[in-house]
Amino acid sequence: MAAFPQLRLRRLRRSETVREMVRETSLAPSDLIYPLFVCHGREVKTPIESMPGCYQLSLDQLLTEVTEVADLGISGVMLFGIPASKDEAGTEAYDPQGIVQEAVKMIKQTTPRLFVITDVCLCEYTDHGHCGTIGDDGTVDNDKTLDLLARTAMSHADAGADMVAPSAMMDGQVKAIRDALDQSGHSEIPILAYAAKFASAFYGPFREAAGSAPQFGDRRGYQMDPANVRMALRELEQDIDEGADMVMVKPALAYLDVLNRARRRFPHPLAAYNVSGEYAMVKAASAAGWLDEKRITLEILTSIKRAGADVILTYHAKNASRWLSEQE
Ligand code: PBG
Repeated sequence: MAAFPQLRLRRLRRSETVREMVRETSLAPSDLIYPLFVCHGREVKTPIESMPGCYQLSLDQLLTEVTEVADLGISGVMLFGIPASKDEAGTEAYDPQGIVQEAVKMIKQTTPRLFVITDVCLCEYTDHGHCGTIGDDGTVDNDKTLDLLARTAMSHADAGADMVAPSAMMDGQVKAIRDALDQSGHSEIPILAYAAKFASAFYGPFREAAGSAPQFGDRRGYQMDPANVRMALRELEQDIDEGADMVMVKPALAYLDVLNRARRRFPHPLAAYNVSGEYAMVKAASAAGWLDEKRITLEILTSIKRAGADVILTYHAKNASRWLSEQE
């Protein structure tokens, strides 16, 4: 019998040069989108306790932040709004002078090269904290919600948003928004659909950040069951058929299989949302000295790209971009 070779696959791991030569997945700041929370007021920079390094920012503070984000080479931002007041119908979501609309105008005036995506949902704006209108039976009424989502998306496009991202998980939301945009002179504005969005415990810290926890019940009636992958593919297909330009899987880490199946099935650009709870775990363990934050963050982001994401929405975007440029 022939002797087992001493070195086989390890031959291509012996130096950083050769490792770099055979590396299959690359990660760059331009792959990343940084989510930001915008609030009313002046000189407000309220730390979000469960998301160290993230803040609720008033417009003047947001200006400093987006300048930094653009200078780091990050492609864009995803905006979430904290309204002045909440009501049953989520009125500020579609107010032309709402906080997100004002933030979009400011960014496009000051930092036009930054790609501005807006989250289109009602949960930050409704007093009950659900993603749509509550119907007579006490649950979210799908069809009544569509009109409000379409109005919200149009108001974002009117303000200058580069792309709108519906995240309410209502059936027909992509088509309703596409039709509304087309009819209001915004046929050039693409839609990023939060297509396979799971009812996840990983959103916990976000709900602190955006003040959007449901006041009764939960979101399992409209967000997806974490156990389902075939259903996720149907969600993606439906949103693509309705006209989504780009589709998202969310959360990312516990759903890399879903992301990979989506990558194999659809040619469309694919985004993954590395959500608040995933970020909080890394920050907490790193702060305790249990994990190496830089290495773990770059490993996680690389794994999300390797699974098939073209674009990653992540609260690590600023740090990751700094670390990536150090490595060059
Ligand atoms: C709004 C929305 C949520 C997130 C993004 N858009 C929260 C939710 O569905 O409860 C979560 C993002 C994160 O956890 O980072 N519907």
